[in-house]
Amino acid sequence: MTPIDGRAMARALCDRTAADVAALAARGIRVGLAVILVGDHPPSQVYVRRKIAETARAGIASFEHRLPADTGEATLLALIDALNHDPAVHGILVQLPLPEGIDAGRVLDAIAPGKDVDGFHPVNVGRLSTGTGGLVPCTPLGCMMLLDSVIDEYRGLAAVVIGKSNIVGKPVAMLLLERECTVTVTHIATRGLPEIVRTADIVVAAAGAPGLVRGDWVKPGAVVIDVGITRVTDNEGRTRLMGDVAFDELGHARAATPVPGGVGPMTIACLLANTVRAARKAQH
Ligand code: GUN
Repeated sequence: MTPIDGRAMARALCDRTAADVAALAARGIRVGLAVILVGDHPPSQVYVRRKIAETARAGIASFEHRLPADTGEATLLALIDALNHDPAVHGILVQLPLPEGIDAGRVLDAIAPGKDVDGFHPVNVGRLSTGTGGLVPCTPLGCMMLLDSVIDEYRGLAAVVIGKSNIVGKPVAMLLLERECTVTVTHIATRGLPEIVRTADIVVAAAGAPGLVRGDWVKPGAVVIDVGITRVTDNEGRTRLMGDVAFDELGHARAATPVPGGVGPMTIACLLANTVRAARKAQH
């Protein structure tokens, strides 16, 4: 089995993006990304810190907006409206989850689709499902780049997606369908999940269930992308990250992504690439 090195691939993509940012800067365009974090959800704090650090490294201007957990929806919507009209801001990202009392759907609807670097706005979701361009969610985009590094021809391959979230499961299923895979979307309530996964040439595990997919669920020669990142604490109180897949049991697979070092780094790299894409589109 070949481990797919997400860190190396993310580094290469970040380098390409930094070169694109520099080329735009030479034309007088400073690429800018606004990141909004509401409340103090601990994992979100970590993700946002990383996103801001990588944004700066690529030479992208970041506009960080940290709002208290009791921020009203109207205040958040007013901020988004201002960013929508700010020409220095090419991408807007609202970190999820939002605190209770704020309707995430209404917030995502308020982001200008051309600045929606997460690809969560209904216009971009619709564009993805009709294959008509638009901004594509970062983690699914990263999954496809990781798959592209080992798969030349997708046509007719059986792909099984585990997870039906709007952030990963549904969009990655759309991308695989666009490549003419035969896609089965499963989730935590699916009956006979191991048998279904055994039919797959491509497995994308995004259930958020650590160690769910065992080695004997995976067909010899299959390619496995593990999107799960769950922090678990062992008996000695040590914490570590666990994927949805028992990576150690995949000796018979063709290729697979480890956790950490697989999909995770690609998500941020794709966010930066999406921001450049949004900035380029804004010039036309
Ligand atoms: N929360 C978990 N994943 C994501 C993501 O990709 N984007 C945003 N905005 N929030 C998230």
